[in-house]
This record gives sequence, C-alpha cells and structure tokens, in this order.
Amino acid sequence: MKISANTPKNILITGASSGLGAALALAYAASGRVLYLQGRKAEKLEEIAAKCRSRGANVYTKIVDVTDSAAMQNWVEQADKDNPLDLVIANAGISAGMGSDGENGEQVRKIFATNIDGVINTIQPVIPFMLKRGKGQIAIMSSLAGIRALPSSPAYSASKACVRYYGESLRGALAFSGVSVSVICPGYITTPMTDVNDFPMPFIMSPEKAAQRIIKGLEKKRGRIAFPLRLYLPLWWISCLSPRLTDPVFSRLPAKPSL
Ligand SMILES: NC(=O)c1ccc[n+]([C@@H]2O[C@H](COP(=O)([O-])OP(=O)(O)OC[C@H]3O[C@@H](n4cnc5c(N)ncnc54)[C@H](OP(=O)(O)O)[C@@H]3O)[C@@H](O)[C@H]2O)c1
Repeated sequence: MKISANTPKNILITGASSGLGAALALAYAASGRVLYLQGRKAEKLEEIAAKCRSRGANVYTKIVDVTDSAAMQNWVEQADKDNPLDLVIANAGISAGMGSDGENGEQVRKIFATNIDGVINTIQPVIPFMLKRGKGQIAIMSSLAGIRALPSSPAYSASKACVRYYGESLRGALAFSGVSVSVICPGYITTPMTDVNDFPMPFIMSPEKAAQRIIKGLEKKRGRIAFPLRLYLPLWWISCLSPRLTDPVFSRLPAKPSL
C-alpha cells in the first residue's frame, strides 16, 4: 500500500509473524515505509519480513515476548527514536477456551498477561513520544468477543473487553492531543488461532480481507473498527439484553480447546 497523506509511514506491529499481524504488515509494505515487526517465532517473522522487503519496505524485526515489559519498553522507545512512529498496532494475542476440562488459573493468567499486559507494554512506551509530537495513532486489537462475552472462552472474552474499554477510554482521554486511538473488533478470521476450532464460525473472513477493513478504518481514524457488520450488530444488540434472556443460548456455545 502506497504512502499518501492519510496513510502512516513508520509503523510498528506486534504479532506480525502470523495471521492478522502478518497480513497487516504485508498490506502496508511499500517503498518508503518503515516497518517494525515483532513475534516470537524467528523463522516465520523473517519470512514475512522478507516478503515486505520485496515490496520495497524497510523492515526491522524483533524477537521479544510482549509480556516482557522492560524489553518491550527498550524496543519501542528505540524504534521511535530511530524513526518516529506514526502508527503502533498492538495486535499480538492468544486465545483458548474451556476445552473439555474447563479453564484453569494458569490459562487465565497466561491469556491476561499476553492480551492485556502485552497491549499495555506495546502502547505505553510510545504515548509520551506521540504526545510530545502532537500526533500519532494507536490501534488495539480487541475482538467481537470483547463486545459480548462468550461463555465458551471466558478469559479471552474478558481480555478483549478489557483492552476495548482501555482503548476507548484512552481515545477520549487523548482526544485533544493529536494522538488518535482505534479499537479493532474483528469477527472470525482464518488464522492459526481459529484453525484449531472444530465448530462453525459464521462469516469467517480471510486475513487479507480483514487487513483491508482494518486499514480503511484506521485511515478514517475510527474509534471502533468492528466487522463483519452482520455479526457485530446482532452481538451488540444481544449485549444490551439481560444475561437471563441470553444464557439459555450462549451457555450452549461449543467450547474452544484449552491451551
Ligand atoms: N483470528 C481471529 O478470528 C481473530 C478474531 C478477533 C481478534 N483476533 C485477534 O487478532 C490478533 C491476532 O490473532 P491471529 O488470529 O492473527 O492469531 P495468530 O495467527 O495465532 O497470531 C498471533 C500472533 O501473536 C504473537 N504472539 C502471541 N503471543 C505472544 C507473546 N507472548 N509475545 C509475542 N508475540 C506473541 C504470535 O507470535 P509467534 O507465533 O511468533 O509467537 C503471532 O504473531 C489477536 O490479538 C487475536 O486475539 C483474532
């Protein structure tokens, strides 16, 4: 994607070694653009980086766990010092559900650490820099599971609701600073995260198509980028109803495998 007046030049994306993060990196890859890409699987991350370079982008990769706050602080700060970041996408995340034995404390803590602390560790280091410049954009990957809690994956739903609220609050708090915050709430996307699901996933979408929807929403600086509409709207409406009315259906949703 070419650089224009409303597309960012220097972009940092976490979880770029796979799925949605990789699709976003590839969609943004273009001559003149600087991409900071993060993951844990070096080989996969390098594969994506090489494809981005072949599209003309200048790419820097980093193997780091998003739960490591000190390492993330160093990496994000250094990236911003070298190339002031226009857009930071806190995308890395994990998912798991009740499986056959339920969700234990270890799994809950692991999901919260990655999906909540990981987001904090990605965006907090860059906020002071963006505020100083009076410009910049932050994108937080939530999910439609953050719109209406899914009993089939309690910790995942809670983590996505948490980062949605965090992002939406932050958007208001930074409204007059020149820094904009967007929260992304996708439905089902075909990635390794959903490959393990053995139940029907309505309106599932390719990561490439999802990346285009996200990029369009970010260009318009939308507060909430939620899609597909035909899944988002019913879930949003259901979230307004009393759990007493919706439990009989939602409690019967098929369980996602545990970690
Ligand atoms: N797929 C969907 O249907 C869907 C729907 C709504 C929202 N989302 C959200 O979209 C985001 C991306 O998911 P995806 O579907 O693209 O899944 P994915 O293909 O499994 O990719 C997850 C990415 O996150 C990285 N990651 C996970 N834990 C990490 C950690 N502790 N430290 C650093 N990196 C870590 C992974 O890196 P390594 O593999 O290199 O470790 C990988 O690059 C997630 O936040 C997910 O919750 C997905």
